[in-house]
Amino acid sequence: MDPLETIMTRRSVREYARRPVPAGTAEQLLAAAMQAPFAGSEMPWHFIVIDDPHILESIPAISPYAEARTPPPLAVLVCADLDAAESRDLSVQACAAATENLLLAAHALGLGAVWTAVYPDPDRMLGFANLFSLPDTVFPFALVTVGYPAAQPLPDSRYREDRVHRNAW
Ligand SMILES: Cc1cc2nc3c(=O)[nH]c(=O)nc-3n(C[C@H](O)[C@H](O)[C@H](O)COP(=O)(O)O)c2cc1C
Repeated sequence: MDPLETIMTRRSVREYARRPVPAGTAEQLLAAAMQAPFAGSEMPWHFIVIDDPHILESIPAISPYAEARTPPPLAVLVCADLDAAESRDLSVQACAAATENLLLAAHALGLGAVWTAVYPDPDRMLGFANLFSLPDTVFPFALVTVGYPAAQPLPDSRYREDRVHRNAW
């Protein structure tokens, strides 16, 4: 898929076909995520690949808005590493860039994915930190669920001229 077409046609997918993702998919997605820009000299993120059905089933109890209409075969917890970041704020921005790359790579591979918020909700952050025994210097940023789409939401056009300011507000 042409890169611009990937960007313009990506939509959040919350309903997955009962079809496993091929071996190596997580690595492809994470390679794309790690190509994202970051501030400073170290990549301030870690990723937890979740394909254990028991762990996947436990996620909606921690993050109700991460519940898919049909369960995903794969999820990735994007985590920020404060030891590798110049600041918390910069780690959040880097994690956001990595998360978007992951979504775009999933779409380019014919998969569907959705970004579900973890940071800055304290309950969800604590829930995932406990579930995966995260170190104190690492915090969960977002959970991305991934699978083949059961239904593909249609792209929509969002360009708004009234949101564009040229050389002044
Ligand atoms: C920071 C952030 C948090 C989000 N959290 C959730 C969430 O918790 N659950 C969910 O179903 N979608 C979540 N989304 C996805 C948005 O609902 C979705 O991207 C938005 O409605 C635009 O639709 P689209 O992704 O299909 O273009 C989140 C997106 C972002 C950027």
